[in-house]
This record gives sequence, C-alpha cells and structure tokens, in this order.
Amino acid sequence: MPARVYAVANQKGGVGKTTTAVNLAACLAEAGERCLLVDLDPQANATSGLGRRANGVSTHDLLDGVPLSQLAKPTAFANLDLVPAKPELAAAAVQLSAIDGGERYLADALVAPATDPYAFVFLDCPPAFGALTVNALQRPTVSSSRSRRSTTRSRACRSCSARSTSSRPGSIRASPSPASC
Ligand SMILES: Nc1ncnc2c1ncn2[C@@H]1O[C@H](COP(=O)(O)OP(=O)(O)O)[C@@H](O)[C@H]1O
Ligand SMILES: [Mg+2]
Repeated sequence: MPARVYAVANQKGGVGKTTTAVNLAACLAEAGERCLLVDLDPQANATSGLGRRANGVSTHDLLDGVPLSQLAKPTAFANLDLVPAKPELAAAAVQLSAIDGGERYLADALVAPATDPYAFVFLDCPPAFGALTVNALQRPTVSSSRSRRSTTRSRACRSCSARSTSSRPGSIRASPSPASC
C-alpha cells in the first residue's frame, strides 16, 4: 500500500500545525506504523521538537533532488524518521517561486517508490501560503517525476563560464556555480 501523505498547513502561525504533525507521527509510530515527518518550515520547530538538528542535509536538499532515502534519518522514536529543516529553506522558497514548475519539486521527491518504506508521511508547513506550502499541497504522480528527471540542463557559471549539469530543470541553489569555481 502506498504511503499516505498529509500536509499540515495553515497560513497562520501558532495554530498547532507542528504540534499536530509531530504528535500524529509519533503516535502512529508508537502504534507500529512506519512514519516520516518532513519539516518544511525554515524555523525548524518540528526538527527541534523531535530533539534533532539539521547537521548537514535538510529538506532543502530534498527539494534540490537528493533522494529521500539519503535524507530521512531515524529519531529517538522507533518507526519515526525525520527530514530536518534549517534556515536556508527560506531561500529555497524564493528560488522555487522563480522556477517554472517549481511547485512540484516536493511532489517529485515524494513519489513512490521513495516513500514505500512508510505508511504515513507528514509535511509540517510554514505559516504562509508560499512556495513551500504550495509544494506540500501537490499530489505526487509518477508521470510528473519521470518527465522532470529526464530533463538535464547545462548551467553556466556567471564568473568563469564553466558549465555544470543538474538533473533538475532549475536548481534551487542560490548560486548555480559549479563546485570547481
Ligand atoms: N491542542 C493544543 N492545545 C493547547 N496548546 C496547543 C495545542 N496545540 C499546540 N499548542 C501550543 O500552541 C503553540 C503553537 O503551536 P505550534 O504547533 O508550534 O503552531 P504552528 O506550527 O501552527 O506555528 C505551542 O506553544 C503549542 O504548545
Ligand atoms: Mg510550526
């Protein structure tokens, strides 16, 4: 059975989104269901609520095409994995809103079989109807994922004209420069 994906979203802050997402995920995990919590809020309250910090990878990498299996980390709770957030996610929101098709990056990352290990996936959204929340409200579809991943675009470094490639039609990294620059 495919994972059931729930976005916990509301434009207002302080209304219980994070509390709901963390507790639903933790209770279902305790009941034996494999759960994943994806922290989509740059304030990272779900991450800290589970006693974690984003040391290195984060939801930002998930949106930038890194496979979910490399980013979902176990928590102190059995059956509950987390993709943590960190403040740079705020920059991703700006980048996503400037990219054609940027509203589907998260859906593409959460398409099966990436989410197959999980019974439930909870997306803890930021308190705004911006690009991150819009991403969370998109339904994962296989066809969308295939068409996006089949597109490889060559990008030029602004300063030295060296070129790099990305599996995404547009990277959400603020600086598109190749690593060698
Ligand atoms: N059902 C509830 N009853 C009372 N207080 C709650 C409830 N849910 C959340 N809170 C409190 O409300 C505050 C905001 O909750 P939070 O989940 O961080 O909101 P959001 O994610 O929408 O910003 C927190 O202090 C939290 O402990
Ligand atoms: Mg919150």
